[in-house]
Amino acid sequence: MTTEVDGSYPAAQRTPDGGLASTPISPAVRDERTAIGAAHAKAILFGEHAVVYGAPAVAIPLHALSATARVRPRPAGTHIHSALFRGEADEAPARVQPLLEALYSALRRAGHTGQGVDLRLDSTIPYERGLGSSAAVAVAVARAVAALEHCDFDAEDVHAIAMDAEKIAHGKSSGLDPRTVASAVPIRFLDGKVAAVPVGARLDFVLADTGRAGATGKAVSAVRRRLEAEPDVVTPLIDRLGELAEIGMSCMATGDREALGAHMCEVHRHLAELGVSDLTLERLVDAADRAGAMGAKLTGGGRGGCIVMLARDEEHAEQMESDLRRAGATRTWRTAVEAA
Ligand code: MEV
Repeated sequence: MTTEVDGSYPAAQRTPDGGLASTPISPAVRDERTAIGAAHAKAILFGEHAVVYGAPAVAIPLHALSATARVRPRPAGTHIHSALFRGEADEAPARVQPLLEALYSALRRAGHTGQGVDLRLDSTIPYERGLGSSAAVAVAVARAVAALEHCDFDAEDVHAIAMDAEKIAHGKSSGLDPRTVASAVPIRFLDGKVAAVPVGARLDFVLADTGRAGATGKAVSAVRRRLEAEPDVVTPLIDRLGELAEIGMSCMATGDREALGAHMCEVHRHLAELGVSDLTLERLVDAADRAGAMGAKLTGGGRGGCIVMLARDEEHAEQMESDLRRAGATRTWRTAVEAA
């Protein structure tokens, strides 16, 4: 993790696991220090919702979007400076509570004995779009507090802090989002355990925003109610979504874009049957089809938020971005997963 003396903020240093490297600070400037932590966004390719019931899932980091937390000691109280709120923590609105929970959880785990903390949050990850904003913010805060307090949070500490914050943001979380925003590479997630996904050929993805805020917590609750009311309908869908995650992973390993795209489309159909798609998502998925996407699906909790599309190559990804914006996407992003 990068810890630096007051002043300008250099880019955080990356360690091979995607974490932030730490450098010691001079005791002489201890009270003027600012510590920085960062995390990126994510996109789920396979397994959203089904993962809540123990099915496997596959997700990729979205390095183009990130959250950066800067913390420094202050004489008393907690001051927050973010796009959603600027002021003393005890006056913060409900939407800022997950951020505060991440901060307090991290400070508790670090054995913080100082009096107050000033937290500044800068994020390019749009809120409530299924891109892991709340998880990335929590991981960024955890990493910044670790740097501030000179403690070595390992991946499990950071994850536990992010899970504390996710409970407030979305209710029960599978843990997939916090794991993906902390990973530099695509992951397979099963029962809380994470493994890197082998990738046989470069894969170009495009994300497109419906402009409608999703509500992950509500979507997860709706699926649970449906499962309780209609187990005979919903259980096979969840099982198939789990199978598709395993099949999708093999397609990534062999670099078979055609099969990967076809399976992403099948995932979208099952998520729609689960009831987590909506008109805005269906419009973008149709537009993706017209733009020649090899596969397209909603990503994350759904009911608004974003779709993820697989392109033939980089040039096609660029073309799809403009096609999707013309079709009504409010924002688009591109990301590539390199062969590894
Ligand atoms: C949200 O990004 C993913 C969900 O599967 C919820 C979760 O995994 O906790 C919908």
